[in-house]
This record gives sequence, C-alpha cells and structure tokens, in this order.
Amino acid sequence: MTLSEIRELDRKYYMNTFGDRTPLCFTKGNGIELTATDGKVYKDFFAGIAVNCLGYGHERLTRELCDQVTKVIHTSNIYYGESQARLAQALVENTCADRVFFCNSGAEANEGAIKLAKKYFVMKGQPERIEFITLKNSFHGRTLATVAATGQEKYQKPYKPLLEKFIHVEINDTDALKRAVTDKTAAIMVELIQGESGVHPMTREYVTEIVKICKEKGIIFIADEIQTGIGRCGELFAHQYYGVEPDIFTMAKGLGGGVPIGGFAAKQKFADAFVPGDHGTTFGGNPLAMRAGCVVIDEMLNGGVIDNAREVGTYFFEKLNELAETSGKIAEVRGAGLMIGIEFKDEIAKSAGAEMREKGYLVGTIGTKVFRIVPPLIVTKSDIDGFIGALGEVLA
Ligand SMILES: Cc1ncc(COP(=O)(O)O)c(C=O)c1O
Repeated sequence: MTLSEIRELDRKYYMNTFGDRTPLCFTKGNGIELTATDGKVYKDFFAGIAVNCLGYGHERLTRELCDQVTKVIHTSNIYYGESQARLAQALVENTCADRVFFCNSGAEANEGAIKLAKKYFVMKGQPERIEFITLKNSFHGRTLATVAATGQEKYQKPYKPLLEKFIHVEINDTDALKRAVTDKTAAIMVELIQGESGVHPMTREYVTEIVKICKEKGIIFIADEIQTGIGRCGELFAHQYYGVEPDIFTMAKGLGGGVPIGGFAAKQKFADAFVPGDHGTTFGGNPLAMRAGCVVIDEMLNGGVIDNAREVGTYFFEKLNELAETSGKIAEVRGAGLMIGIEFKDEIAKSAGAEMREKGYLVGTIGTKVFRIVPPLIVTKSDIDGFIGALGEVLA
C-alpha cells in the first residue's frame, strides 16, 4: 500500500487519538535504520520512543523470537515459564530488587507498583496511607491511576475526578517535597530523569534527599524507570547511575527490544505484600515477551550494549556541547547516557525536526524548543558524527 492509502484508512477507521501523525510509514529496519514505504532510509534517533534498544533486525533477537514463535507464544500464568523465571532471576541478580512481576506496558507496571504500595500499608495495618507524591511535569502513563500520577493537567482534565490522591511537587525542590509529606503519604514516585516533558534530570542532592525522607518517614520510594531503565542512561537502571536503591522500580520500553512488555521489581518486604489473588495478568510474562527480555538483558550486560551506551553517550554529549558553542543556537544539552534533551534558544524544535527528517534523521520533539534524542543503544560514534553534521547544517 502507498502511504496515502494507509493514511486514508487510518483517517476513516482509527480513533483520532494521534491526530495528524508524522507522514511516514516504515516497512523494515536494520541496525539503527528504518526504510519507509517510498524506499527512503532514515537513521532513527528516537527508537520507537526509547524502545528499540537493540535497533532493528538484531540478529540474535530475531533468531530467538522466531524460534519462540515456532514453539509457543502464550500459555498464561496458570503455568510456569522458563524464560519468565530466567528473566526474573537476571533482573534480581543485577539490581537491588528481590522479586519481579511482569506485565505488558509501562502504565500497567506503574499501576502495579501503586497497588503494591497501597497493599503494603494495608498489610501493615496503616490503610490511611493512601497519598502519593509525584512531580510536576512527570509522565507515568495513561491508565486512570497513572494519569493521576502524571503531573500534567492536560492529561488529567477530561478524566476528573481521578481515583487516587496524588500530590505534585516541583522537581529538585526539597522544601516543596518536605511540605507535601503527611502522615498519609504512602510513596514518593519519580522519574529520575523526566523524559516526556523534555529530559529533565534530578540533581543528585535531590535524589539523596528523597531517599532520606523515605527512610525517616517509612515512605516507599518508587522509581519509574520505564524510559530511563534498560541501559538508556549508561547503567542497567538510572537508580544505579544515581547510586541509590528504590524500594520498588518499574520498567517497560527497552526491556522487550520492541516486543510489548512491562514489569515492576521490589525489595522483599514490599513484594511480600502481594499474596495469591492480589494481582495478575493474562498476557504479562508470556513466553514470547520473556524470551525477548532474556535476550535484551543478556545483550545489555554481557554483549557490551550498556558499555556502548555509556561510551557513545559521552561522545554524543561532547559533540553536542561543541555544536552549542559553534552554532550559538543551543541553550542546553541535558540527560545521561543516550537519553538526551537538546534545548534550543529559539522556538525551532518543530521546524528543525522536520529538516532533520529531510536529511534522513528521526528525532523526537517536545514543545517548541526541545529535541528528545533516545537512539538505539547500539548507535556508533560514526552515526553520531553524521547526526551532528546534519544538525549543524540545520542550525546554520
Ligand atoms: C516514564 C514513563 N512512565 C510511564 C510511561 C507509560 O508507558 P506505556 O506507554 O508503555 O504505558 C512512559 C511512556 O512514555 C514513560 O516515559
């Protein structure tokens, strides 16, 4: 089908939640490149919104997924699953968590973490602890509880009244955080680097303060690692980059290398709050997604992918900072590893994004001034040189 035929069907039959999409449809991918219906090839610096960490057509991921498809795709959690058990083991052995639960998306993972926190306090005989503190400009998902958690009015407005009590405070403002804490606070839930609102990292001091407050007041520290996790920030999880241990953390996006997946992990005493019947899922933890997760985590830890993200990320920051100097058009470069926000001085993000696309580079834009750059973690220094060259021309 041609792009215009596909667009016509979309206009007629698909719910209008995405409005006018970027006028592209991809038919195949290889490495960090995507080929569109008209044959044009793009280098992807957005990776399906920080998902395709191993890029496209990854030889091992493809081979293992094909093998799994020929064996069994789904059996349900009525039965045991080898890859599920192995992936849980890999995540526990490489993080501060003791137990894991798998689901299908980021929102579902956060929803599960919120339920676990509430159940923990019910089990402890403190059912009044029902308040959650999250940050302004955060993004935690599209289910009703995670929309309430999300600190952005635009996502909440049509769905009020919202279910849970979430209090939103400014990022990196310790006093505001302290003022928001009450006897009813169950958890503080944060993205260590806010992705969707423009790549805003927490300061190390603020993260340390969160941990301290949580310890002092018996509050649960939940890290939403849906975007920051799975090597994105140059460590398996961003809380490792910050050197802290959350009580519960969530994951999704990169974990399946493109196969839908989600999960949350917890330290033992919190994980113990769930007993049989408290939580569940039909598809979550299915053999196909779990096989993908096993490959991804192994490639991250033993195939050098995290090391690459760290090394190429550092190079990318250096080159972007040089470009900021020479072009005079960039206000700030921020983030960690290969999760990068480029804020322009002027409101050029949309036009510059379109020009980058013309030059064969896909980027994410946020608002009018920011590029969100989250390429596959297999990106090379020479890919970065190409990107910097193209951006330099666009800015000139
Ligand atoms: C930090 C964060 N949390 C939660 C979500 C929701 O994930 P999903 O779209 O898989 O439900 C996202 C998605 O962008 C995210 O970036």
